[in-house]
Amino acid sequence: MCGIFGYVGQRNDAGSLVIDGLKNLEYRGYDSWGVACKTNGKVTIEKEIGKISTVERADFAQQCSLAAGHTRWATHGGVTKLNAHPHANSNQTIAVVHNGIIENYQEIREGLKQKGHSFVSETDSEIIPHLIEEYMKETDDFASAARRACKDFDGRFGFLALNTESNTLVAARRGSPLIVGVGKDGYFIASDIPAFMEHTKLVQYLDDGEMVVTDGTNIIFSDLETGEEIQKREIEITWSVEQAQKGEFDHFMLKEIMDQKESVARAVNQNEDQIITLAEAINNAQGTFLVGCGTAAKACMAAEYFFSVIAEKHVNFAPASEFKLYHHFLKPESLLIVVSQSGETADVLEAMKIAKSKGSKVLAICNVEGSTIDREADYSLLINAGPERAVASTKALTGQMAVLMLIAYAMNDKLREGQKLLLETSSKINDMLNPRYVNFIEELAEKIQDKSDLFIIGKSWNYPMALESAIKIQEVSYVHAEGFAGGELKHGPIALIEEGTPCIALVGNDEVKADIISNAIELKARGGFIVGVAPENNEVFDVWIKVPDAGTAQAIVNIIPVQALAYFLAVKRGKDPDMPRNLAKSVTVK
Ligand code: G6P
Repeated sequence: MCGIFGYVGQRNDAGSLVIDGLKNLEYRGYDSWGVACKTNGKVTIEKEIGKISTVERADFAQQCSLAAGHTRWATHGGVTKLNAHPHANSNQTIAVVHNGIIENYQEIREGLKQKGHSFVSETDSEIIPHLIEEYMKETDDFASAARRACKDFDGRFGFLALNTESNTLVAARRGSPLIVGVGKDGYFIASDIPAFMEHTKLVQYLDDGEMVVTDGTNIIFSDLETGEEIQKREIEITWSVEQAQKGEFDHFMLKEIMDQKESVARAVNQNEDQIITLAEAINNAQGTFLVGCGTAAKACMAAEYFFSVIAEKHVNFAPASEFKLYHHFLKPESLLIVVSQSGETADVLEAMKIAKSKGSKVLAICNVEGSTIDREADYSLLINAGPERAVASTKALTGQMAVLMLIAYAMNDKLREGQKLLLETSSKINDMLNPRYVNFIEELAEKIQDKSDLFIIGKSWNYPMALESAIKIQEVSYVHAEGFAGGELKHGPIALIEEGTPCIALVGNDEVKADIISNAIELKARGGFIVGVAPENNEVFDVWIKVPDAGTAQAIVNIIPVQALAYFLAVKRGKDPDMPRNLAKSVTVK
């Protein structure tokens, strides 16, 4: 939620550098953008409504070595130029970009107004430069004033502030992620690594309750509360610049769908001893809970079936945002498994906090190494999908399911069997995603693009995939789509089926095949146009999307053509699949 990026150092193109870096963070928010540069000793700010990706190299951003910018996903205050970040103080010497919510901003703003400060935006963020300015009247030191300001704030935040007088950047974190990139000729500070990945791979993570100050040559990390200095390790990141680029594809979403030719195999490539240890931890836990949000939550739901069928173990799924009231069931012997692509989702972090407060252990399954969830969990496994840039999650989901399934096999002493199945599945996905196959799905999208409703049904692990299919189609194509458990149809949803309504049936060669085919027949009898995603054709299908037979890994395979269908529906309907309206990739507010 909101991209933050700043630079201070010896380079004199900081403005353009920040604009270019922000383009890599646009998945965090894209309703407006802004950049503050130090020019002639003062802050110059340029901001606009819309996407920063449309901005060419900007004149205003030349000849400066200190800059900070932002791409916004609006929370407080509508999408207007005045509400776009950065926000400055009265003297135009401080500019701030902010992520998160300062809950007591109204009270602080009133106090500042009485001291003569005036405000131009409706945001909570604008109080930050003004409060720092106010405290700088008492101490000339920018970093100390920023620290003091943080003590007044309630809520979760991460902000980056620049000061033209001291020529420094200060960043403070309580909840929202911030990472330092250590360059040869200066320092970068960003909410996410892709902002500076082409300049450096050396990073230093800012933890919650910490602050960092740098003038481009020196850098000091400290405790936000006490001011005590903290020594930080420099860590080298493993993602490559190419992995984070679109390459030959028109959109990141299609690239990431196609990445699944290899990413499932990368997810399976885990340290065996670690998987066995975690499998034992789940077997020995008294109560295991699985939580995640959005697409990651669907991986958790699928894992409930994996654990039941493969490991014969009961685990409890809850959307992370609903986990609060489960705390009654948590004890030190309980285990919470959290699943998150970004590793920064606020509701997931909140669930971890609840579990930790009860002494329970947390296992994280993340994609982003070094993310807050990855670092704060007791055990962590990475799915190694590589950067996922499109807002709609695709390859992260199949990687998450592969890792969860591997653990389920290990719980039943069948790790080798699980590895073999998943690696075979990976090579079947590789064969499946050939150009002819992708064209076939594009043609289907062309055919149904004008339909206003779409339904998806599945049973067992294909049921969460039906829910996930609906999310994919809704979020990128804006077609009304709903997923159901096949057996639930006749209890209500079937009333919505009319002549020609597209209905996708997710089918496997398994014990529930006959049931889901019956459900498809029920839909067809009401006029439904049946698209079967299945290893074998069936006379009920009007269109058959052939998928390889993957046994217990069928859910991993079946979701992929539907991801592609969602993508092509978006493109055919003239929508941008990478940046759907109203959404953001990393949701760091509750
Ligand atoms: C947002 C994204 C979804 C994602 C969800 C959870 O809503 O738009 O694609 O599934 O957050 O994100 P996480 O990073 O925790 O997997």
